Amino acid sequence: MAKVTFIEASGKQHEVTAQEGQSVMQVAMDNLVPGIVAECGGFANCATCHGYVDDAWLKKIPPPDAAEEGMIECAFHVQPNSRLTCQIKVTPALDGLVVRLPVSQTGE
Ligand code: FES
Repeated sequence: MAKVTFIEASGKQHEVTAQEGQSVMQVAMDNLVPGIVAECGGFANCATCHGYVDDAWLKKIPPPDAAEEGMIECAFHVQPNSRLTCQIKVTPALDGLVVRLPVSQTGE
């Protein structure tokens, strides 16, 4: 298990427990975290699971593949640390992971 903290664009934090092997997107969905929409269900085909991975954690996850890079280009408010959370698998090394969520997925 690993703890993952999601921080909404408003600053509201959600610390949740993740199971190894889940995607970070699925962790958010299972815990009803606002700001992760995941319209395509995790197939790297919608970019509505976009999140910002804190720099310290970026080094601990594999880099994006070509499909993820292509979808990130379609996302709103892209930053250098933008990732598709459906493409990040939870591992014990990610215990404490922090993911910030873009304002574009707040539904406002
Ligand atoms: S859920 Fe659609 S790209 Fe991640």
